[in-house]
Amino acid sequence: ADARVVVVGSFNVDHVWTVAALPRPGETLSGHYHTGPGGKGFNQATAAARAGAATSFVCALGDDLGGQLARALASADGIDLRDFASEAPTGTAGIYVDHDGRNSIVIGPGANAELSAAHVRQQQAPIAAAQVVLAQLESPVEAVETAFGRARDAGVITILNPAPADAVAPASLWVLADVVTPNETEFCAQFERHTGERIAAEVLVRQDDARLHALCRRLLPHGTVVITLGAAGCFVSHGEGRLRQDARTHYRIAAAAVQPVDTTGAGDAFNGALAASLARHADAAFADHVHYANRYAALSTERAGAAVAMPRDAEVEARFRTV
Ligand code: RIB
Ligand code: NA
Repeated sequence: ADARVVVVGSFNVDHVWTVAALPRPGETLSGHYHTGPGGKGFNQATAAARAGAATSFVCALGDDLGGQLARALASADGIDLRDFASEAPTGTAGIYVDHDGRNSIVIGPGANAELSAAHVRQQQAPIAAAQVVLAQLESPVEAVETAFGRARDAGVITILNPAPADAVAPASLWVLADVVTPNETEFCAQFERHTGERIAAEVLVRQDDARLHALCRRLLPHGTVVITLGAAGCFVSHGEGRLRQDARTHYRIAAAAVQPVDTTGAGDAFNGALAASLARHADAAFADHVHYANRYAALSTERAGAAVAMPRDAEVEARFRTV
């Protein structure tokens, strides 16, 4: 079968200012401005498509310039766009990036908040035909839960990227995820929500592997947890779920060495590439998919922007070809 991925999620028009330092209350700064396509959903869909999977993107768009931009870009990347036409404006994000590459983001969900379970229910055919369904938490939980429910019924792998960190993922959604992919902050936020116990991100990253594995097992008892750790790579912990794995229950995969210029959307690059790799190479070990997604995400940070920074599969191979 063809490698197919369905991404359910947000599209935003990103407005990005690069500033020396993030603004403090009452402060007025000037910085270099650019705009471009973003939204975790669209970034991930673009990554999945450019990483070589036939990709459908289920989202909600407004009847405005942002919506037109999304349609044009999806078509240019061969993404099968399954948009719900909303009366709300297309989503927006205001992003400040400082000279250390740190960012602050404010989202105007707009149409993204209107993505409904009813619209997702109409996407039964692409979901059932996919190997992987991937979603984030910038869209209503009911919509994501509906997609994951359909995916599970059809034996399709579900990946939940629990971002942003302040979003709530109820237990009813959590149990439908085969894989969750938090960064360290998102891990701590979801861990507190699902177990009632608080861990600080600085403490989490100092845990040894056995202890991290134990924490992951409590966060998602049945499934696979991939904690993305930026330049430190990722930590993978497998449960009893149905994903193919080698003999190891947990391991680390190092990040690829690159010269980052803009890390906006790096997590999205990772998720889209992971989904595409799982869809394309069903027989490969999970560690190989994570290795590919790491390289893919690393290369995306060497380019400015979010969706527009996503590399093509052949570029990843060329960049990291060993001589
Ligand atoms: O993950 C990066 C994305 O988060 C940006 O493109 C912005 O739109 C927000 O959704
Ligand atoms: Na980038």
